[in-house]
Amino acid sequence: MTLPTLLIDCDPGLDDAIALLAAAQLGNLIGITTVNGNIGIEHTTHNALAIAQATGQDIPVHRGAARPLIAPVMDASYVHGPTGLGNVTIPEVTGSVASDDAVGFILDMARTVDDLHLIAVGPLTNIALALRQDPTLPDRLGGFTIMGGGAHVGNVTATAEFNVWADPEAAAIVFEDFPMVTMVGLDVTHRVLMRTNDRNRLRDAGGTAATLAADLLDYALERAGSIRGTDGAPIHDASAVIAAVAPELFSGTHHRVVVELAGTHTRGMTVVDERIGGRDGHETSTANALVLRDANEQEVIDAVVDAIIELDRNA
Ligand code: BDR
Ligand code: CA
Repeated sequence: MTLPTLLIDCDPGLDDAIALLAAAQLGNLIGITTVNGNIGIEHTTHNALAIAQATGQDIPVHRGAARPLIAPVMDASYVHGPTGLGNVTIPEVTGSVASDDAVGFILDMARTVDDLHLIAVGPLTNIALALRQDPTLPDRLGGFTIMGGGAHVGNVTATAEFNVWADPEAAAIVFEDFPMVTMVGLDVTHRVLMRTNDRNRLRDAGGTAATLAADLLDYALERAGSIRGTDGAPIHDASAVIAAVAPELFSGTHHRVVVELAGTHTRGMTVVDERIGGRDGHETSTANALVLRDANEQEVIDAVVDAIIELDRNA
């Protein structure tokens, strides 16, 4: 079976880290690009190097944008901890970044690799900069999936999800320029929760990647319990990876999505046009996004857990 070729743009981050481990098994992960987001670029890049090392594969890491296009730098350390990977002790990183030019790497790979699936699970700064540099980027990709946004649902504000809220101008460019974005937003990621029994499976498996994932989940479960009062933790970014490699586990609907940049209460909201027909029965807008709404929760979770356990077996 040929594995899909993946490039992941991310800001690790607990769920980014779990996403990367799963992706290294489920795809041919040709590179990781980093962006400021959950925590500053030095940490997200260092964390990406540590996770790449834990995969046992030779995956290049390219450092990207250190700040959003226009918005001030904000972080999500209240969720991901002061270094972005909770309180987890990561092994000493032996490798270093392949370059400081994430945008150049994304564009090079899109030009030279057939059927590349780009998955962006942090603020969309690097992707927007890549689009500004080469507007033909969408034509050169086999697929484009983001974790971000939500239809009438937010997590940082009542209406805005973190990745879009952290760099709304970048997200606006992405939704304007891509003819079709697979949007793995909070509508679906809040339906896919990892629980203690999933953490236990990883812990019992005992390899490098599985133990790391179990440690990350310990922290994520505690935070989800305190912040959201749930007994499971959303693994947003890992859900996006599974949506890219196993779309049959998800369902969604096509809509026009734009990003609100000016609203007092709604800046960073993904405005999903759900009108049917419109006032006089005509088409109201042309879809630019497949907005995922639901998933087979247990199959998605099992896909992530199985992949990480398998990754250790193949190391
Ligand atoms: C998204 O924001 C980040 O905190 C997570 O890593 C995920 O990408 C969820 O809103
Ligand atoms: Ca992320």
